[in-house]
Amino acid sequence: MITKPKGTNDIYGRDAKIWKYIGEIVDGVMEKYNYGYIRTPLFESTELFHRGIGDTTDIVTKETYDFVDRGDRKLTLRPEGTAGVVRSFIENKMYGNGDLPVKVYYNGTMYRYERPQLGRDRELTQFGFEVLGTDDPLSDAEVISIAMNIYKMLGLEDITVEINSLGDDESRKKYREALIEYLKPHKDELCDDCKERLEKNPLRVLDCKVDGESDILKNAPKTIDYLNDDSKERFEKLKSYLDIMKVNYIVNPKIVRGLDYYNHTVFEVKIDLPGMSNAQTIGAGGRYNGLVKELGGPDTPCIGFASGLGRVVLALKEQEVKLPIKEDIDIFIMYVSEDEKKYAAYLQQELRMSGFVVDTEYTGRSLKSQFKQAERLNSRYLIILNDEDLNNGLVQVKNVKTKEEDKIDLEYLIYYFDEKLADEDYDIEDGCNCGCHHGEECTCDDDCNCGDDCDCGDNCKCHHKEEK
Ligand code: HAM
Repeated sequence: MITKPKGTNDIYGRDAKIWKYIGEIVDGVMEKYNYGYIRTPLFESTELFHRGIGDTTDIVTKETYDFVDRGDRKLTLRPEGTAGVVRSFIENKMYGNGDLPVKVYYNGTMYRYERPQLGRDRELTQFGFEVLGTDDPLSDAEVISIAMNIYKMLGLEDITVEINSLGDDESRKKYREALIEYLKPHKDELCDDCKERLEKNPLRVLDCKVDGESDILKNAPKTIDYLNDDSKERFEKLKSYLDIMKVNYIVNPKIVRGLDYYNHTVFEVKIDLPGMSNAQTIGAGGRYNGLVKELGGPDTPCIGFASGLGRVVLALKEQEVKLPIKEDIDIFIMYVSEDEKKYAAYLQQELRMSGFVVDTEYTGRSLKSQFKQAERLNSRYLIILNDEDLNNGLVQVKNVKTKEEDKIDLEYLIYYFDEKLADEDYDIEDGCNCGCHHGEECTCDDDCNCGDDCDCGDNCKCHHKEEK
């Protein structure tokens, strides 16, 4: 048997519905914030990532999937989305339309040759967004708040965003020197990787998984203490905008991020999932004011964020968040004879074109087994065809929940389902029909999922329908 490559996943069944649902929430939120969808290639020139992410980063030195194609081109499967977006921004001269900032979002597969474990895959999916062409700290605050809003809309709890500032080039340089000075006498006490990082990329020593909790690193100089006045003011402004936008944050001076392109704001979104420490950073981002220029474009300040979809799914499952995912079908059509089957073929087409979710029998099951199949598919209604009814222009319909049966005139069948199924639309998962809907306060005692104060607009996960 051929099995899937290490660190990849097959997503199907209910999981696939969850993935799709997350994508829909992301689409809805991004639309509200006026971000356009962007698709860039899954593979790019290897050089893009070396110059973009940084030659000394773990991602580029150890984790990329590099290959040479039949035309001898050096290519790399993208390990993240930012470098490709920046390349596209420059190549398509998006900066030239006078319409800055350009705000884009993506949702796609990335590849990193990592050691697979819970929440860490070799083929991963990220949704992310980038703002290109503004240095305003308000855009930093907006990016952070979008990330938090998406998680909130999904129903996740115990989420914290930790922020830090690396400052501008001048501040970063000063800090780098101070850090090397501080770490050098402790070199022998560091892990082998950090000994190497100390020379090439000393900031990375700070978030080393091995040395991270040691006293040496706890007492290391902090980036914030090396910010020049401009960078300090920027960081203060960011914090004040976050306060105004009611985004709670923690300042964590240890956050430096693993990619070289960052300056000023860096942040990580963490979720408290006991026993799943590797999956707790569900998203991260920061400002990268030098990257567009580094890759050959005009000086363009940018900020962005990305989140691992797989980690979000893990968190949703771990926190047992109820999602408004449709897990049933509207109608299952049953038949026995060939004539009935032909009518089933016609009827399912008509009903589907009218907007109902319909399935039927394809494997020659007995009527008894068809009832079981309808149960497995969680069908709300059954249509049980028989030749005699059909000759009289009728069909037999059964409501699975109430067990009520009706003979319906074929001409009125669509109206019948329109009325019946519209009335039951609220009953997606938890069956709560308290009357709460958007903009109103929910006062229901049911174990529903909408939160007390549903005021988030169309895309919230509140799915209650006003009680008739
Ligand atoms: P990153 O921190 O490398 O940043 O990745 C962002 C998120 O992707 C992580 O917080 C995590 O949720 C998820 N992730 C990363 N690696 C894996 C993996 N091997 N398996 C599963 N999930 C993973 C970036 O990628 C930057 N491009 C973010 C950014 C956008 N900065 C500015 N704009």
